[in-house]
Amino acid sequence: MSEAVHKRLEELRDQLRRHEYLYYVLDNPAITDAEFDRLMRQLRQLEDEHPEYASPDSPSNRVGGKPREGFVKVRHSSAMLSLDNALNDGELREFDRRVRNLLEDRPHLYAAELKLDGLSMAVQYENGRMRLAITRGDGEVGEDVTENARTIHALPLRVDSTLPRFEVRGEVVMLKRHFDALNAERERQGLPRYANPRNSAAGSLRMLEPSVTASRKLDFYAYQFLVDGKAHFPGHWESLDRMKELGFKVNPHRRQCAGLEELLAFCADCEGKRDEYPYEIDGVVAKVDSIAQQQTLGWTAKAPRWAIAIKFPARQEETIVEDIGVQVGRTGTLTPVAFLKPVTVSGVTVSRATLHNEDEIERLGVQIGDRVLIERSGDVIPKVVRVVAEGEGRRPFRMPSHCPVCGGEVSRAEGEAATRCVNTNCPARLKESVLHFASRGVMDIDGMGSALVDQLVDRGLVKSVADLYSLKLEQLTSLDRMGEKSAARVLDNIERSRKQPLPRVLNGLGIPFVGERTAQILADHFGSLDEIASAGPEKLQVAEEVGPKVSQGIGGFFHESRNRELIERLREAGLQFTHQVRRVVGGKLEGKVFVLTGTLPNLTREDAKARIEAAGGKVTDSVSKKTSYLVAGEAAGSKLAKAQQLGVAVLSEEDLIALMSQ
Ligand code: IVH
Repeated sequence: MSEAVHKRLEELRDQLRRHEYLYYVLDNPAITDAEFDRLMRQLRQLEDEHPEYASPDSPSNRVGGKPREGFVKVRHSSAMLSLDNALNDGELREFDRRVRNLLEDRPHLYAAELKLDGLSMAVQYENGRMRLAITRGDGEVGEDVTENARTIHALPLRVDSTLPRFEVRGEVVMLKRHFDALNAERERQGLPRYANPRNSAAGSLRMLEPSVTASRKLDFYAYQFLVDGKAHFPGHWESLDRMKELGFKVNPHRRQCAGLEELLAFCADCEGKRDEYPYEIDGVVAKVDSIAQQQTLGWTAKAPRWAIAIKFPARQEETIVEDIGVQVGRTGTLTPVAFLKPVTVSGVTVSRATLHNEDEIERLGVQIGDRVLIERSGDVIPKVVRVVAEGEGRRPFRMPSHCPVCGGEVSRAEGEAATRCVNTNCPARLKESVLHFASRGVMDIDGMGSALVDQLVDRGLVKSVADLYSLKLEQLTSLDRMGEKSAARVLDNIERSRKQPLPRVLNGLGIPFVGERTAQILADHFGSLDEIASAGPEKLQVAEEVGPKVSQGIGGFFHESRNRELIERLREAGLQFTHQVRRVVGGKLEGKVFVLTGTLPNLTREDAKARIEAAGGKVTDSVSKKTSYLVAGEAAGSKLAKAQQLGVAVLSEEDLIALMSQ
C-alpha cells in the first residue's frame, strides 16, 4: 500500500514539475491552469495524508518558509562583478579594438545577449537540489534569499545533473504586465507605487515573508554556469545551451557574432524590438565566447575585460503639458492624464502620460503649460518624471467635482489617494469593470476586449457582468466587426469562465481593495463566497492582511443591494462560489490538531474548520491523546468529558479566535 502511495506521489510531483517547466520556462503550457491546480490539490492532499513522504523539493513546497527577521550575509563562490558600459558605437568599437589587440588578432566570437533590467542572483545546487540563493550584494558578499528564490517557478528546485555542485547566475526580473498589475493593486490599496520593474523585483526578492515574494511572480533568466566559482564549459554559448538543457530559463534572444559589425546589427535589432519584450531591457551584453580567451583577457578590479554592457539610451524625452484631463476607471477612480505635445520617445509617438492621482500631481508640482520630462518604462502609459521648466501662464489642474462621463458626484475618502465617481451605474465604470472581470488572470474571457465591451455596454446588452452569461449568438453577431466565428469563440470562452476558481471570481467582482492577492487570502480563509459576504468586520479581520480598510470595502460592497443581486445572478450562472481551502504551511496553527463540539456562538462548524485549516491547523472528528485543543460550544457532550479526562486543553470560540490572531 505505502509503496503505491509513494509511487503516486512521485508521479504527481514529476507531472507537476514538467508542467511548471512547460508553463514557466518554455512559456508553452500543455494543460489549463485549472487542471494544474487540480493536480496540485491532489498532490497536497496526498502529502497531507502521508507526511512521512514529505520532500523539500516537492513542487507543492515552493512557499514553505516562515517569515524572517532579516537576511543572513553569505560570501559568493567568486566575485559577482559588474560590467563596463559602452554608451555609443564609438565606445563599443574601442572595446572591440582592445579585445582584438589583447588576443593578438586571433579570431574570436562574441556571445551577445539581452541585458535584462533586473537584479542579479547566484543560485547554488548540490546533488541536484537547490541549496542556496544569494543576491549580488556588494559583489563579494550577498544576502541569503533562498526561501524567496524558491517561489520563482522558473527556477527548478531539482535538476538532473551528474555534477555534485554547480552554480547558476542570472537575472531576477518582473515582467512588465505583472509590474503594471502590482502597481494598479497598490494604488487601489492606497500604497505608494513602485517606480519601475527593477525596483519592484528587488523589493519583492527581499521580502521577509516568502508568500509575499510568491505573489509577486518573479522570473529568472540564467546567464552564467559555474563550478567552484569558475566557468565550467569551454565556451559561454555552450554553457547557455547546457543550462537550457538542465531546465533553466535561458533568454532565447541571443546571437553568436563573428565580429563588431554583426554585434552592432544584433544591438540594432534588439533595440527595435525593445517594446515587444515582456520585460524591461537596458541594452545588450556582449561576451567573448571562448573561456580560454576570456582568461587571456582577464579582469580589472571592477569588471571583466572580456565583456561589455552596450547600453541603450534612456527612454525619456522632454515635452509640454498642453492640458490635463481625467479618465474614469473600473472602481470609479478618476485618473488625471496629461495631454502632451506629441513627442517621439525611442520610435513611439507619445501624446499622453498618466499622472496617477492628485497626490502625484502635487509631488511633481506639475501644472498645465509646464515643460516636463516623460519616460516610457514598464507601464503601458508613459509617465511624467519631473518638471523641467515652469510654463509661462501655467495653470494648476483641479480635480472635477463631477464625473466627466456620467455627471455624477465624485468624492475622495480620507487617507485615500483616489478620487472616485460614486455612481455605481456610471457607464465608464461598467465598461472598465467588465474589462477587468474578463481580463487575463481574472476570468480569462479571451476576445472580450474594449471594442466589444464598448458596444455591449453602449447598446444596453450588458448592464452588469452577470449579463455576459446570458448573451446570445445573434446578439453578438449583430455587433460591428463580429463574425459568426469570433462570436461563437467569445461565447465559448464565456462558457468556460464559469469554471474559474473562487479567488478569480472574487477578484473579478471589483470589491474595493480586493485584488488578486487579497482574493486568494479570503478564499483560503473562508472557503466560500457566502462566508465572506456574511462575515462582519471582526470576522473578516481575522484573515491575514485584512485590516479595517479592506473589511470596510468588503462590507460596503455586500451591503449594496445591487451587488447582492449581482451575486445571486452569478450564482445562477453557475460560477464557482466555494473553494477548497489550501493547507497553509507555516500558519499560526501549524501542527495543531483540533476537535469541534457543541454549538459555537458565532461560527458555524464549517466556518471554524475553514479558519483553522487556513491557519495551518487540522480538524479531526474524535478526541484522542493527539488532540491539541477541543473547541467547545453550547451543549458540548461526551467529547468534552473525554477531553477533560485526557487533559486536552478546552477552548471557547473566543479563545480560538484569540489563538489565531496572536
Ligand atoms: S553578465 C561577469 N549577462 O547587468 C559577468 N549580466 O552591469 C557579469 N545583466 O550585474 C554579468 N543581463 O545584473 C550578464 N545577459 C546578461 C545580463 C547581465 C543583465 C546585469 C547583471 C549585472 C549587470 C552588469
